[in-house]
Amino acid sequence: MDLGLKNKVAFVAASSDGLGKSVAIELAREGAIVIICGRDKEKLEHAKQEVQKAGSGKVLALAGDLSNQEDVANLIDTSLKEFQAIDILITNTGGPPTGKFEELDEHAWDAAYQQLLVSTTRLIRGFLPGMKTRPWGRIISITSQAVKQPVNNLILSNSVRASVVGLMKTLASELGEYNITVNNVMPGFTNTSRLKNLIANNPSFSSAVKEIPLGRFGEPNEFAAAVTFLASERASYITGVSLAVDGGWIKNII
Ligand SMILES: NC(=O)c1ccc[n+]([C@@H]2O[C@H](COP(=O)([O-])OP(=O)(O)OC[C@H]3O[C@@H](n4cnc5c(N)ncnc54)[C@H](OP(=O)(O)O)[C@@H]3O)[C@@H](O)[C@H]2O)c1
Repeated sequence: MDLGLKNKVAFVAASSDGLGKSVAIELAREGAIVIICGRDKEKLEHAKQEVQKAGSGKVLALAGDLSNQEDVANLIDTSLKEFQAIDILITNTGGPPTGKFEELDEHAWDAAYQQLLVSTTRLIRGFLPGMKTRPWGRIISITSQAVKQPVNNLILSNSVRASVVGLMKTLASELGEYNITVNNVMPGFTNTSRLKNLIANNPSFSSAVKEIPLGRFGEPNEFAAAVTFLASERASYITGVSLAVDGGWIKNII
């Protein structure tokens, strides 16, 4: 199947490692021009080389903290100076701290809100005008299986990510007339540094594998394949969905 991604411009947030990097690699492999970002410049440079190797298109690597308003504005300005508009926006960021309600103070809630919801709205606000002029666009948010079934000891993720899904579903209605689709992809337990850290801090996370029908944690490239399809021309009639890539972990019927 030709995904129709050749020369599309994609901004993949938080993509110097993990799920974001895997998505950037897969999009590059399909011929897209990719902008990646992350805070650590050395890690970002390594990722740039990996993404470049996967495809033949240009790769732009921009350092910045997605929780910082000025940094996000710079990421958007630099991308638009280089490409005028982008076609595909993948919103993503690092995961919030673990913990139960009484272990987390007001500051932790505010930081999670900035990290997960506000960074998403800033990226969309910055890139939307360009998509509307095309008019064509794909906005995909990387959230978590936690938005359908809360994960123990992750109250910040379980709570704040639900607001991101509300945002995405509403935008799917608002932006359909511009030929912009808006979807949400929910990773399950996937082998990245984030999962390794969760298990190191709380070994009970490793037993989650027993609750996964496919009997194993996912691999980042399995997640990236689903995101890449939704970002493609072939997914032109899919909008407003939340797609789980979780090996069957979520127990809802639909
Ligand atoms: N892996 C899983 O099992 C799983 C399951 C459900 C949900 N998720 C969620 O999916 C998202 C991605 O997870 P992952 O497993 O890919 O995490 P990861 O392996 O820790 O990678 C996170 C990436 O985001 C970048 N990043 C983190 N904070 C950032 C910030 N403030 N500004 C810019 N870049 C930032 C990191 O680079 P720098 O640190 O250099 O900035 C790195 O490139 C997270 O929100 C995570 O909670 C993951």
